[in-house]
Amino acid sequence: MAALKRLSTYRKRTRTKQETVGELMRTQYYTAMSLDGFIATKDDSLDWLFPLGDINDTSYPQFINEVGALAMGSATYEWMLRHVIKPDSPTPGKWPYRQPTWVFSHRQLSGIDNADIRFVNGDVRPVHAQMRAEADDKNIWLVGGGDLVGQFYDAGLLNEIITQVGSVTLGAGKPLLPRRITSPSLKLISVQQIGQGFAELRYEVPLP
Ligand SMILES: NC(=O)c1ccc[n+]([C@@H]2O[C@H](COP(=O)([O-])OP(=O)(O)OC[C@H]3O[C@@H](n4cnc5c(N)ncnc54)[C@H](OP(=O)(O)O)[C@@H]3O)[C@@H](O)[C@H]2O)c1
Repeated sequence: MAALKRLSTYRKRTRTKQETVGELMRTQYYTAMSLDGFIATKDDSLDWLFPLGDINDTSYPQFINEVGALAMGSATYEWMLRHVIKPDSPTPGKWPYRQPTWVFSHRQLSGIDNADIRFVNGDVRPVHAQMRAEADDKNIWLVGGGDLVGQFYDAGLLNEIITQVGSVTLGAGKPLLPRRITSPSLKLISVQQIGQGFAELRYEVPLP
C-alpha cells in the first residue's frame, strides 16, 4: 500500500516535470522476468509465468489504460499468434490491444483481423516518432524482447523499466535487457510486493 502511494506521488511528480517541458508521454519497458533475469525460456515458453499470480493484482490494469502505442519484436508477436490468436483454430482468439502495435521483423508476417498492426524493420527512431504521433499523448509500451528494447535504449528513447520479478529461476533464456547500464545506473523509483509470486520494480532509465 505504501509502495502504491509512493508510486502515485512519483507519477504526479514526473507528470508535473514533464508538463513543464511540454512532454507528456513516456516510453516504458513493462514486462515480467524470472529472478535470474529472463523474460522467456530459450524456446519462448512462458509456462513458468502464469502460475505465479494474477495480472489483475499488479499495476497492469492501470498501466495499460495509459498506453497509446505498442512495439514488439517478431518472437513476441509469434508467441501471441501461437498462444492467443491461434489462427487455424475454428474460433480464433482476439488481439487483446485496441492501441496500434508496431511489430519489428525482417520477414513478411501475417496480420490479424480487426487488429491495428504495422510491420516495420530497421532503425527504431523513425518508428518511435510515428508511434509518438499516434499515441494520443499517452505512453509508449515496449513489450519486448530485450534486444529490441535495447535498440530504443541505444537511441536514447527509453524512459522507464517496470518489471515484475517472478519467484522462479530459469537458468537460461531470453534476457531482460542485453545492455550494460552502469554509470549512471538505473534509478529505482518503487518496489511493490505482489503476493509471494512477484516483486514489481520500477526504474527510471538514464540517457545512454
Ligand atoms: N515475460 C514477459 O512478460 C514477456 C514480455 C514480452 C515478451 N516475452 C517473450 O520473450 C521472448 C522474446 O523473444 P526475443 O528476445 O527473441 O525478442 P523479440 O524482440 O520478440 O524478437 C526478436 C526478433 O525481432 C526481429 N527484430 C528485432 N529488432 C528488429 C529490427 N530493428 N528490425 C527488424 N526486425 C527486428 C528479429 O526477427 P526477424 O527479423 O527474423 O523477424 C529478431 O530476431 C518471446 O518468447 C516473448 O513471447 C515475455
